[in-house]
Amino acid sequence: MPKAAEKVIEMKDVSNKSIERNWGNFGFDHNYPLVSRSSEMKDIFALIKKIAKSNATVLIHGETGTGKELIAGLIQFISTRSTKPFVKVNCAALPENLLESELFGHEKGAFTGAFQRRKGKFEEADGGTIFLDEIGDMHLTTQSKILRVLQDQEFSRVGGNQVIQVNVRVIAATNKDLIREIDVGNFRSDLYYRINVVNIQLPPLRNRREDIPLIAEFFRRKFSQELRKDVPGFHPETMDLLIHHNWPGNIRELRNMIERAVLLEEERKPIMPQDLAMPGRDYFAAGGKDRRKQSSTIMSLSTLKLADVEKEVILKALKMTNWVQKDAAKLLSISARVLNYKISIYKIKHPNWRKYSS
Ligand SMILES: Nc1ncnc2c1ncn2[C@@H]1O[C@H](COP(=O)(O)OP(=O)(O)OP(=O)(O)O)[C@@H](O)[C@H]1O
Ligand SMILES: [Mg+2]
Repeated sequence: MPKAAEKVIEMKDVSNKSIERNWGNFGFDHNYPLVSRSSEMKDIFALIKKIAKSNATVLIHGETGTGKELIAGLIQFISTRSTKPFVKVNCAALPENLLESELFGHEKGAFTGAFQRRKGKFEEADGGTIFLDEIGDMHLTTQSKILRVLQDQEFSRVGGNQVIQVNVRVIAATNKDLIREIDVGNFRSDLYYRINVVNIQLPPLRNRREDIPLIAEFFRRKFSQELRKDVPGFHPETMDLLIHHNWPGNIRELRNMIERAVLLEEERKPIMPQDLAMPGRDYFAAGGKDRRKQSSTIMSLSTLKLADVEKEVILKALKMTNWVQKDAAKLLSISARVLNYKISIYKIKHPNWRKYSS
């Protein structure tokens, strides 16, 4: 088993083929827009596969932008409820009185402004899944009502007496530490134990750095297609920065950064470090400055050897073009035959080129 650091280095040059093979989500549907190959996520996928078809309640915990909603959607996507509604409720967005009517619906005249009967999210989700996002921010009164639905699968609309029965699978998510919330009296422990049947802890991106090149490449392709822009790849230094960045906003931050870079990048040029708009501190913390120093030493007069410079440039071009010699030759404005000759002179090797690795 390679060590984590080695795996990251391996991943620096993700070839197209390896991406296609690996963003198959460990056997999940290729149409679902979620990619990963880290061992941390692999364990989570294995768990999801086991529980998706059951009706077990799932609690997803993770920092902002780690993919909680995407994972909730995936569970629904591969469950037997996939053709039924997936209804999302953001428990933090609504004041308590509105949230209750949102969840359970209301009868006509239940409160001022309730001009007609309205179905709630639980009714809408009947047969499918309800996703209770930010459940850690739900008011205590609403928590007890949710608990009742979870126990009995029944409830009444606000202002009504009729008991409504539903068949709904519940997936809840939060970025709060619910045990701590229980300790300070903000969260009911009985509700916690009721929803915590299956617990999924999504690791932050900085703890699964092998995923960074893969997800970055996924978004480069997505936004290149959407924006109809030919942005061929990442400069190797850019990829190094991405891999070493701390990602406080996790995958959402990575996604936004790549979208912006594709938008701003000149056509037919790889994404350069300066296109990343990383805060300066992070850029230097990520080693950007050091690396620039290192690569410029090769240009300093005391060590300047034309052959070294040429080899360095060829290597960079090859990395930028995913080691496709034809493309690298084009980038260097030389013929493929000349490049091939220089590759043999400098004894440059890559596993993709079996016939050259003597
Ligand atoms: N493994 C992944 N592959 C591809 N895209 C991903 C992956 N994980 C997350 N994303 C994308 O990252 C963004 C954030 O994901 P999501 O909204 O699911 O995070 P979240 O944990 O719910 O965040 P928040 O706590 O802020 O609500 C979305 O655009 C989502 O599609
Ligand atoms: Mg979310």
